[in-house]
Amino acid sequence: MVKQTFKKHVTCIGAGYVGGPTMAVIAAKCPDVKVTVVDINAARIAAWESDDLPIFEPGLLDVVKKARGRNLFFSTDVDAAIRSADILFVSVNTPTKTFGEGAGKAADLQYWEKTARNIVKASASDKIIVEKSTLPVRTAHAMERILNANGKGIHFEVASNPEFLAEGSAVKDLLNPDRVLIGTQETKTGLAARKDLVDLYAHWVDRKNIITSNVWSAELSKLAANAFLAQRISSINSMSAFCEKTEADVSEVGYAIGKDNRIGARFLHASVGFGGSCFKKDILNLVYLCERYGLWEVAQYWEYVIRINEYQMTRFVQNMIQAMFNTIAKKRIAILGFAFKANTGDTRESPAIYVTKKLLEEQAHVIITDPKAIANAKIDLAGCKGTFEFASDPYAAVKGAHAIAVCTEWEEYKHLEFKRILKSMEKPAFIFDGRNILDHVRLFEMGFNVFPVGKRPLTHY
Ligand SMILES: NC(=O)c1ccc[n+]([C@@H]2O[C@H](COP(=O)([O-])OP(=O)(O)OC[C@H]3O[C@@H](n4cnc5c(N)ncnc54)[C@H](O)[C@@H]3O)[C@@H](O)[C@H]2O)c1
Repeated sequence: MVKQTFKKHVTCIGAGYVGGPTMAVIAAKCPDVKVTVVDINAARIAAWESDDLPIFEPGLLDVVKKARGRNLFFSTDVDAAIRSADILFVSVNTPTKTFGEGAGKAADLQYWEKTARNIVKASASDKIIVEKSTLPVRTAHAMERILNANGKGIHFEVASNPEFLAEGSAVKDLLNPDRVLIGTQETKTGLAARKDLVDLYAHWVDRKNIITSNVWSAELSKLAANAFLAQRISSINSMSAFCEKTEADVSEVGYAIGKDNRIGARFLHASVGFGGSCFKKDILNLVYLCERYGLWEVAQYWEYVIRINEYQMTRFVQNMIQAMFNTIAKKRIAILGFAFKANTGDTRESPAIYVTKKLLEEQAHVIITDPKAIANAKIDLAGCKGTFEFASDPYAAVKGAHAIAVCTEWEEYKHLEFKRILKSMEKPAFIFDGRNILDHVRLFEMGFNVFPVGKRPLTHY
């Protein structure tokens, strides 16, 4: 057998929602590059090696299958993969710190720093270290200090290449990104690293969409992008509360303002609130950094994006209780959708977690259904007090229910047989559409009492 030679060796540390899909696409598009993805979580690696991938993303299995075993490899041997790499992406988790200085706001960099020390220990040659994780601005500075104090004469060049993919459309986003951002130092070695990274992405991304910048701009751009996206959701959600008081309709308002091309139509849909592992943690991190620099007003401004999101989730549950005659104790409530958004099984920071916990506090009997997220929902609710159960079939979930709460905008929920559902529910039957995806008038005419977000409720009493 002829031993295949590769032009470059790329390693990614962290085989999660970002590391896995990103590297699968790099491998699929760069057959001359050997890509190894490593993780300390052996079960995750085993799943990446199977056809039952550890995360659900439309189109991902096809991309993985195209490259796996050819130039895409998964492994738990972190040290070997570090040693062989020319370019080393680090995509480990950077959650919000839960202890000590900055608890509840700052990024917990323990996984990141552990990785840096691992890199120093295992390396025997110069490498480009790429920050793929979302990190506080100026992390690259600290990393270079740790890495380059290696005593082995090895040079590590740290670059920032934040990932802008959205879960649920990760493959599409990676194949056809709005932009790829590469931040490096503007030194000789920094510019050489920049060129290597641009060349890697240029295998499939138009060079005009590959943006280069200084390393701090790249780090901050990721925090800023998430803050702006979340801000748009909180902005329209704040309007939804106002609409409910004034008989304005938030969909009509969103449509009208989105037609202004200075504003644009996307991310203007009111809902029960945003979730996901990134928006909240990244804004809190931004808030923490602003406070550290004494920028109190800036910190408060961004903190309110989170406050409005919490307010929105609270309002959603309060509206449910109020509509159902101020008591939901012992009433069966079906949660349609537990993932934080459609087309993913990810439930991190999902509004459904908040809604379910609040309903359980009110002693409701909660039945949860979701096409992809039940396994994660079970983990999220483990140890919760109260009566709750899971049903993979939405029709089974709603049987005998007093109310339905739509928490995820799964396409299939729009096409459920609601006449059949109404027949099987307790009366009066309520639908709380936390994603405004259903045909409210049709449901009302069928006999449901319908409570959208940011619109007049349609009730029969
Ligand atoms: N999820 C998203 O949509 C998204 C989008 C853009 C950026 N990001 C950022 O990317 C980073 C990763 O996010 P994610 O959602 O992929 O996280 P994740 O938790 O799914 O994956 C991180 C992986 O890193 C592994 N890991 C941790 N420490 C390790 C070590 N020392 N050695 C080897 N492996 C280790 C973990 O076992 C885990 O599998 C975060 O900084 C996040 O903010 C996430």
